[in-house]
Amino acid sequence: MKKLAIHNGKKIINKIIPPHNSIKKEEVKIVNKVMKSGKLSQFYGTWGDGFYGGKYVKKFEENCKKFFKVKYAITVNSWTSGLICAVGALDISPGDEIIVTPWTMSASATAILNWNAIPVFADIDPETYNIDPKDVEKKITNKTKAIMAVDIFGHSAPLKELKKIAKKYNLKIISDSAQAPGAKYYGKYCGTIADIGGISLNYHKHINTGEGGVIFTNNKNLALRMSLIRNHAESVIAKKKIKKINNLIGYNFRMGEIEAAIGIEQLKKLKSIIYNKQKIASILTKGLKKLKGIKLQKIQKNCTHVYYVYPMQINKEILGISREKIFKALEAEGIQGLQTKFTNVHRLPMFKKRIAYGNSGYPWRINKKLKFKYKRSSCQVAEKLLDEKYLGILLCSYSYSEKDAKDIVKAFNKVWQQIDQLK
Ligand SMILES: Cc1ncc(COP(=O)(O)O)c(C=O)c1O
Repeated sequence: MKKLAIHNGKKIINKIIPPHNSIKKEEVKIVNKVMKSGKLSQFYGTWGDGFYGGKYVKKFEENCKKFFKVKYAITVNSWTSGLICAVGALDISPGDEIIVTPWTMSASATAILNWNAIPVFADIDPETYNIDPKDVEKKITNKTKAIMAVDIFGHSAPLKELKKIAKKYNLKIISDSAQAPGAKYYGKYCGTIADIGGISLNYHKHINTGEGGVIFTNNKNLALRMSLIRNHAESVIAKKKIKKINNLIGYNFRMGEIEAAIGIEQLKKLKSIIYNKQKIASILTKGLKKLKGIKLQKIQKNCTHVYYVYPMQINKEILGISREKIFKALEAEGIQGLQTKFTNVHRLPMFKKRIAYGNSGYPWRINKKLKFKYKRSSCQVAEKLLDEKYLGILLCSYSYSEKDAKDIVKAFNKVWQQIDQLK
């Protein structure tokens, strides 16, 4: 790159943006209470009162049910565990297929592998970054049992369209709403609309308990199966007289009392955290929408966005310059939280090797048909977007003030004014 005016002049942003941190004195107070009680977990892996956990776990689950307006809320020690419970609760057998998006975190797909089922990747919609229902329908076979929709970046997947497909082919839907706690879709909270859904409470999310997650369902039987998988199902099913035992291998996915107590306080803050992220996003949208060669995400009808990430696309053809050069110039202006690297999960070595060559202990092993399966999973829209166009701002990871958002807009404008010099 030539020596640029951008780098010679003063940077627009000179401060370090503090990380998003919603843990304050309320959480410290309630954690102290739990510590003083000496009861850091009250789960028992046998049938009885302790099977469903301790006082704080039960209270947090009650609060989640009320807040998210759902019949069952089941806490877990991570959302990865929640996804494993969700897939296990469905009637999935080894070799069954579940259609999933490649634009997600790897756990959405590995939860499927965990039960020896096969993740089949459907491409994404370039407008929303969510799974494309048209491609989902193309990838259905007689082995398909479910769709895993991910509300990526904090905006709902197209559940109306997916539900139509699910009805037509008799499939179940799991909603991975890890990144979208509190986002709404046609008036309902993300994660509560599908057969099973849920949110992550890991450290990077809007609200967090360090590690943790909450599963949602309105179905009594699925709720029971997930509670069993969370807590050593195999030891309990005889006493509970459960006959349909497929996939009822249990784990210890139980949430501790400290995390649950933190969750109680965190949930109270979710609405105001979302309000702040949306305020920052609207400043960015107002300031960036006029710039040429940049495409912002359109919020879909009857949806709200909670901006885990603020995504956009850089158009090389219009700007005559690569996304990478723009990224460097924006970073040089002091913008923090920019991202061009994201996972295309279907391209991870494990999926390429296991599904293309079948070198794992999984049931599909080497055969020509399964090589075809991997090819069928190529997702060209997802690949092109990530390789050339995607640029995100990690709105949930940083605590941007309104002034910071305005400075980000200024920095973009400065880079755009000098774009010819970057070429
Ligand atoms: C879309 C998605 N799914 C699943 C997970 C896994 O959640 P956890 O880290 O709570 O296990 C994450 C975490 O970032 C995620 O973003």
